[in-house]
Amino acid sequence: MGAPYDPTDERTALAGGPHRPAYHFAPPTNWLNDPNGLIQFDGTYHLFYQHNPAEPVWGDIHWGHARSEDLLHWTDEPIALEPDSPNVDADGCFSGCAVDDDGVPTLVYTGIDDDRARQCLAIGDETFRRWEKPSVNPVVETPPPGVDRFDFRDPFVWREGDGWSMVVGAATESDSRVLLYRSSDLREWEYRGAVFVDDRPDVMWECPALVALGGRGRGRGGDQGRSQSRSWNQNRDQYLMLGSLLPTRAVRYYVGSYADERFEPRREGILDAGDFYAPQPFVDESGRIVLVGWVEEARAEPAQRAAGWSGLMALPRELSLDEDGRLRTAPVDEVRRLRELEYELPAVGPEDGTVFVDQPRSETIELVATVSETDTGTEPSTASLSVLRSPDGLEETVVRVDPDRGTVTVDRSRSSDDPAVETHEQTAHFEPTADPVTVRCFVDRSVVEVYADERACLTSRVYPTRADSTGIAISTDGASVDDGTVWELASVWDDFAPSPA
Ligand code: FRU
Repeated sequence: MGAPYDPTDERTALAGGPHRPAYHFAPPTNWLNDPNGLIQFDGTYHLFYQHNPAEPVWGDIHWGHARSEDLLHWTDEPIALEPDSPNVDADGCFSGCAVDDDGVPTLVYTGIDDDRARQCLAIGDETFRRWEKPSVNPVVETPPPGVDRFDFRDPFVWREGDGWSMVVGAATESDSRVLLYRSSDLREWEYRGAVFVDDRPDVMWECPALVALGGRGRGRGGDQGRSQSRSWNQNRDQYLMLGSLLPTRAVRYYVGSYADERFEPRREGILDAGDFYAPQPFVDESGRIVLVGWVEEARAEPAQRAAGWSGLMALPRELSLDEDGRLRTAPVDEVRRLRELEYELPAVGPEDGTVFVDQPRSETIELVATVSETDTGTEPSTASLSVLRSPDGLEETVVRVDPDRGTVTVDRSRSSDDPAVETHEQTAHFEPTADPVTVRCFVDRSVVEVYADERACLTSRVYPTRADSTGIAISTDGASVDDGTVWELASVWDDFAPSPA
């Protein structure tokens, strides 16, 4: 562990591949799933992730690692955790988190061996490159009675009061639950009961997280542990609980109160209705809640093997509550720095038919447009934004917005000529509105990431096959697109571009 690691060649070899993202984080090579150990430490952001360094398919799970100063440009770091400890984690280092233990970076993760899950630590130093598994591992050896020995995973830890709290996802025969533990030193943990129970059988809450939402000012400084403990003291009624649920793979959120070691939900919803799973939130040094989630593939395994890589991370998002207590999700402000050439979009009304946009022709864009209902009284009232469109229109991905119904849909039925990719429609819901809805749509080669008024979001994978599937078209039905802008976005991976022939 910690050997010099320079995956520049791997990244360069994969750069420029038709579906390789230009401004989303993908692994240098091979497999990636859940984000882990998100933390900002002495100003630098760290992203760890579930990683198979040998193949672009799930298995032999390590923790990959990258660092960034701006949540956009990432530098690969040595692999942080290897599955190498018999009776602890020899079959995999599964998901977990990072905390700042009074200046000592500490990872908390699930070790898998012999189909048993145990909660473990790895202790780092200020380089974030050497991770030692202490002899006290595992720090939680067995689950409480009634909990499955394997479905007991994904610790999420925060500082609370004068100690540490941890939630762990768990399944019993009859329900799924989020277990709460307390510790004064991260090494000895006391089980305190289920903080939340989902009483449906055959459900498993993976990657649970509990984080204080409200009343948090910006720019107060402090580390993850400290800012979380401050909010815990102040805002017990504004907590966010997240879970990634098997078998449907829905990412649910609940806003509610956290008091007396119980979480009581008031509102719930789907965080992202697309190919999005296992997100992790963290509190950064400015006090904002930043969320990173895994964007899965929607192509078959042979295509992943042929590509040499699998999986990427959605854009980092900031989560907040609006004045009505509803959750808001927006890409972090830093994402605006990617904007390069800017183009105006024409206004398009129901009489205009399909309007083809001449410029830009690009597979890496941000498109912002405002959709309003018109007074025609027709049903439905939708605007369709077609991206990654070939000049003959045979390949295109259509983002359809319906303010009246409160839906945003990504129609992938014609996204790709490849018959072996998923094509089902994906839809996110928000409260229906007669007001204009502003849509931000990020296109990055094989990712279409859509935000509707920060109230709904949807991240979909698409795999255009034609080099000229780079166009934009707009049409409406009972709605109008009032104004809009498109930017070509910069690549964050320019250092890895293959040298021109
Ligand atoms: C979620 C998950 C976690 C587990 C990890 C294994 O995608 O199944 O529950 O820790 O992935 O890679």
